[in-house]
Amino acid sequence: VKRRILICGGGNGAHCLSALAASRENLDVNVLTLFQDEAERWTKLLEDNDLKISVTYNDGTESEILSKPSIITKDPAKAVEGVDIVFLVVPAFAHAQYFTTITPYLQPNTLIIGLPGQAGFEFQCRSMLGKKASTCTIASLESLPWACRILEFGKHVQILGFKESLGMSFLTGSECNLSFPVVETVQEVLGEKPHIQVIENYIAVNLMAKSIIHPPLLYGKWGDWDGTPVPEKPLFYQGIDEIQAELLSKVSDEVLATAKELAKLRNGCDMSEVIHIFDWYKIYYKDQVADKSSLMMAMRTNKAYDGLVHPMTPTEDGKFVPDFNYRYTSEDVPFGLVVMKGIAEIAGVETPTIDKIIAWAQTKLDKEYIVGSKLTGKDIASARAPQSYGLHTIDELFNM
Ligand code: NAI
Repeated sequence: VKRRILICGGGNGAHCLSALAASRENLDVNVLTLFQDEAERWTKLLEDNDLKISVTYNDGTESEILSKPSIITKDPAKAVEGVDIVFLVVPAFAHAQYFTTITPYLQPNTLIIGLPGQAGFEFQCRSMLGKKASTCTIASLESLPWACRILEFGKHVQILGFKESLGMSFLTGSECNLSFPVVETVQEVLGEKPHIQVIENYIAVNLMAKSIIHPPLLYGKWGDWDGTPVPEKPLFYQGIDEIQAELLSKVSDEVLATAKELAKLRNGCDMSEVIHIFDWYKIYYKDQVADKSSLMMAMRTNKAYDGLVHPMTPTEDGKFVPDFNYRYTSEDVPFGLVVMKGIAEIAGVETPTIDKIIAWAQTKLDKEYIVGSKLTGKDIASARAPQSYGLHTIDELFNM
């Protein structure tokens, strides 16, 4: 039997997943992209061609995959028809638009997957699906399975590497009976790599979101900046100093304290997946990091970070100023740090470092999420903390 899946998005990840999934014999692939005229352009480009992925496997071998989705559309009715798995493969700020658009057409017993979910995915999905949420299963993967980029829009995408393994959590709605097993089915869509590892507790995935990395590094670098343009774009990770490393480490400590407190409050529920960011670097980048003596050195000597610089805007005289509206803040604060802060607040854990960083970042984003140490700012509804959706207690958090 052929299964029909829907892929939402039109960027790097959506290109990859579309071609990969369409190359599997037992899958029929629909694509929904709402952004500008992407659906129309992409459809035209594939009229006489296949979509090509140039793949570099982790052992260095290369190959090409050619295939194409059945339809690429902007029309949610067409896109969702007959589908029992929906993948959202867009940056977190675009999730809301897809939830709104597909909800009227969703059938009971649908699996909805954030690939990646990013922090707060489940809270937002539950809330925006409304009554339909309990008939669905909501899954979240912790990252994209590949490092990938579009070489030519609509036609050609490159996979530069596969993750070895990838964590996934899922919440089964109280009235949802999927006709297929979640993990095996998602694994079949992705293929052999990465190996999906089930994380029992969705809160652990939220607390381990990598959106904790960028804001402390930005704050550490630019928190006291006097506004003078700089001659070069500074290295983002490999230029990290002791102050920045200390900030990141403290943020990670606060997240870890939150996980420990939740485990205590919920009778030892499993939070073992939540580990300190320094430990994560040592495991995750074990072959790329040359010096593992400290968090600062691990980041400075991580080959995966070669040459990556701060997001900067050029000035008229050829210098640079930081771009505080880049994803590192506009995404990683409302869809990252604010979510973790919200979970910590519910757990009753104080987070002075996280609070300080959110307070700084929100002025740059012209938003107000936090007031003092509480998430009571006027813009909290536009972030993805539990509090953004009216969740305030441990029971509400755990009985999602
Ligand atoms: P991308 O940057 O390629 O996404 C762009 C696409 O998002 C656009 O083509 C459009 O379909 C949609 N979009 C952009 N602006 C929009 C707007 N204003 N309204 C509605 N839709 C809009 O994203 P990519 O690279 O596919 O990444 C997806 C997620 O995976 C992100 O959260 C990213 O951080 C994460 N990720 C990406 C990796 C990569 O190698 N590309 C690696 C690890 C994680």
